[in-house]
Amino acid sequence: MNMERKWWHDKTAYQIYPKSFLDTNGDGIGDLRGIISKLDYLEELGIDIIWLSPVYKSPFVDQGYDIADYYAIAEEFGTMEDFDELLAETKKRGMYLVMDLVINHCSDKHEWFQKALADPDGEYADYFYFRKGKNGNPPSNCRSYFGGNCWEPVPGTDKYYFHMFAKEQPDLNWENPKLLNELYTMINWWLDKGVAGFRIDAIVNIGKNTAFPSYKPDGPDGLAGCWRMIDSMERLGNLLQELKKNTFDKYNAFTVGEVFSIEEDALAQFIGENGHFSTIFDFSAHCLSDGEHGWYDAPPMEFDRWKKTIINAQLEAQKCGFKANIIENHDEPRGVSRFLPDYAQTAAGVKMLGTVNILLRGIPFLYQGQEIGMTNAVWNSIEEYDDISTKDQYQIARTAGLSDAEALEVCGKMSRDNARTPVQWSDTENAGFTTGTPWMKVNSNYPEINVAKQEQDENSVLHYYRRLIALRKSDAYREVFTYGSFIPAYEHVPNVMAYYRADGENRVLVVANFGNGAAEITLEYDVKAVLLTNRAQLPAQTAWHAKETLTLDSCDVMVLECV
Ligand code: GLC
Ligand code: CA
Repeated sequence: MNMERKWWHDKTAYQIYPKSFLDTNGDGIGDLRGIISKLDYLEELGIDIIWLSPVYKSPFVDQGYDIADYYAIAEEFGTMEDFDELLAETKKRGMYLVMDLVINHCSDKHEWFQKALADPDGEYADYFYFRKGKNGNPPSNCRSYFGGNCWEPVPGTDKYYFHMFAKEQPDLNWENPKLLNELYTMINWWLDKGVAGFRIDAIVNIGKNTAFPSYKPDGPDGLAGCWRMIDSMERLGNLLQELKKNTFDKYNAFTVGEVFSIEEDALAQFIGENGHFSTIFDFSAHCLSDGEHGWYDAPPMEFDRWKKTIINAQLEAQKCGFKANIIENHDEPRGVSRFLPDYAQTAAGVKMLGTVNILLRGIPFLYQGQEIGMTNAVWNSIEEYDDISTKDQYQIARTAGLSDAEALEVCGKMSRDNARTPVQWSDTENAGFTTGTPWMKVNSNYPEINVAKQEQDENSVLHYYRRLIALRKSDAYREVFTYGSFIPAYEHVPNVMAYYRADGENRVLVVANFGNGAAEITLEYDVKAVLLTNRAQLPAQTAWHAKETLTLDSCDVMVLECV
């Protein structure tokens, strides 16, 4: 596939969840100065693009995804001066800063919404979806993503306002040109400041059907999931093209959309040459644990399905563009706890999973702590959780008949808080995250899993991630890992996940054994070098002829240069 080369094609990205990254003033909350102090660490890891989860002023009902002022930095995180310094410091290191753009909704504390409430027939009410109820009931029967009806009464009126997430996150009215202009101006203000682009939050929701129909109930609450309202890709596409034309395009910005479940044939509209975004996240493996009714009926992760899903996503993406590949993010449990079987939840297994993911075709996005193999947290009471969605899912599980212990087990597996525990910097109190009381409990495994310890050990996950990213970006292999085709290999060998990355110059085989016992493959090409392996020692043999057998022990991964 011939495509115009873009500045971001060969970059490696890293997501920071600021609240849990590093606290520098002892208030228990991560801050911008903490991020500034770790830029050298990120540079050494090989990171080019940093995506900051929201740092805007917010009441933090949904941890900053409820923005009260798009032009202000949350006091908890620092000041605009700190932000400007962070931006300047990233640039000094040749890095790019990407902000989170949350424009499907804002906070109920945003001035626009406050004005709307003050005058429910006025100009600002039309920045939102205000609708009259039906016979004393809400206008429709959709259930918000965080539970409960999407409609909330507007006090002192017979109207309701619409929200797909929490009731403190009113949806913005994308049919109002004035509102759209305000958003474009705001986006351009940040781009003028010098940010390189945006990760765009929950964006398909702007394409909802604003006739607000009701649907056949799908749960005991008599409601139907609001995702059903996103039925017209065409309307969504028009809105996104306008957005792009008025903002990102003018700055050659990088954009990554948080886009779930679009039809396969729509992919090119999103990431193709004139796609709505530079790229979108590949959530296909994460969606494998979508339960029919919630987290409690999530199917277990099966290796074969996982493998097929990744392969399919890669083959589809390379027809038209690049996907952004992740193992985890702030909304997902830790990948090593989720995708690795018990016997593989070891340093070797963590490196294997990282290798398979990072060398895929696309833009790798690491999430903070992934580079040291941070895991899910085990908590014993629902009170210990912070996340609004976890509380809702716990209730759904209880309503469905699960005991407290069973519902907690579900949360332990699926909670968004799994990824939100503080980064484990050292084995000192609170993992070196704060000298105060952390806003969220540190994972109790921090004495074993932490950055300081791994810095000391050449064989650690951290050192391995550095070598892995360095390989991806090396002069010799950058081209093939960026633009080389993805070609699945050994698809029928049980427990093995393997693929080639190949172009006219190079052919690299990535092969991993996720099984509990040894696995064998018969090489299809001569192998002239082992570019990377998670084995403590290089194998005695480092070159092979085609047709020879290569044996991989449990959790072995090898990156092999073929002839
Ligand atoms: C996205 C964010 C998530 C947030 C939601 C509402 O899915 O990643 O954290 O809760 O949007 O903004
Ligand atoms: Ca702080």
